[in-house]
Amino acid sequence: MKIAILGMGAVGRGVLELVDGKDLGLTVTGLADSKSGLMDKDGIHIEEVLAAKQERGYCGDKSISATDIVEQADYDVLIEVTPTDAKTGEPATGFIRKAIARGNHVVTSNKGPIALHYAALQSLARKHRVSIRYEATVGGAIPVMHTLQHGLAGNRVLAIFGILNGTCNFILTRMAAEGLTYDQALLEAREMGYAEADPTYDVKGIDAAIKLVILSNTIWKRNVKLDDVEITGIDMLTTDALRLAEEQHCTIRLIAEAVPDRGVLRVAPRVLPKNHPLVVEGSLNAITIETDMAGEITLIGKGAGSRETASAIIGDVLFIRETHARGH
Ligand SMILES: NC(=O)c1ccc[n+]([C@@H]2O[C@H](COP(=O)([O-])OP(=O)(O)OC[C@H]3O[C@@H](n4cnc5c(N)ncnc54)[C@H](OP(=O)(O)O)[C@@H]3O)[C@@H](O)[C@H]2O)c1
Repeated sequence: MKIAILGMGAVGRGVLELVDGKDLGLTVTGLADSKSGLMDKDGIHIEEVLAAKQERGYCGDKSISATDIVEQADYDVLIEVTPTDAKTGEPATGFIRKAIARGNHVVTSNKGPIALHYAALQSLARKHRVSIRYEATVGGAIPVMHTLQHGLAGNRVLAIFGILNGTCNFILTRMAAEGLTYDQALLEAREMGYAEADPTYDVKGIDAAIKLVILSNTIWKRNVKLDDVEITGIDMLTTDALRLAEEQHCTIRLIAEAVPDRGVLRVAPRVLPKNHPLVVEGSLNAITIETDMAGEITLIGKGAGSRETASAIIGDVLFIRETHARGH
């Protein structure tokens, strides 16, 4: 199967390394970063291109753009892994629309297009008889979309609760374990490479809320928006609040929850018993799905990382290959 990749950051490089290092039957025929692009219908030499990117900062020919790759390269699946713009979803949404209109499948880790335009993109994909999959947008390596859409097929999902932001979880874990203040723990998260230079989206709960929107629309098809989510971040939490929770054998976690029957769509710090399944440590993510037949299922795993996120993307690509080979 032929793939074209837009974006050569942590995730794009992770995908390239896995395609190169494992025998997956995938050939990269198009590739672009913000400054350049390259295409070869017989397959791009991955090691060479990774070395070139590292050496000179761009991957291909500066006269070839990402749009050229989407419109002209010979591929079956577009892997869209450019930065998330949560306000407009661009330029990723435009790339995705163009790829679908050419009759190509799309796999993305980009939250912007899915949180903002889920229904429209799904309907465009149906019209062109292709798939758009986005496992990597929520929970990194955790196969939550596969679990919801396939493993739990036939179940009614009653509620979903999750730790969807590893940066917040790391900060809360460190505040509780070492008695650090919020600012000290944030500084440590930055030093460890978990927090961005501007951590606003993470610590104010917006990133978790965007992922909750994606999960809710996947499960219940209600077309909810970020504005529908009631959001409280962790940036006002004090060491005293965590100490008080500790005294009750509890701790505090930033929980994203959707319970449609009770009208709940919320991200907020919650006090949980220390032995609660969602109380995971460090930068891990965890998601509990409550269903009518299967009962309660909790998935735990790495919510970010180059190889981990690439794992979710590869899973989507191989799923598309399998289902379309069967003529679905
Ligand atoms: N990192 C994770 O663990 C993780 C986990 C889940 C989801 N995600 C999502 O996955 C996506 C990629 O994440 P990342 O960490 O790999 O980001 P990143 O390291 O910032 O890399 C982004 C890449 O996209 C390229 N790019 C930017 N604008 C472009 C454009 N207009 N056309 C083509 N390429 C463009 C950049 O080019 P240059 O190299 O030229 O700058 C860079 O190679 C984001 O949407 C992120 O939210 C990331």
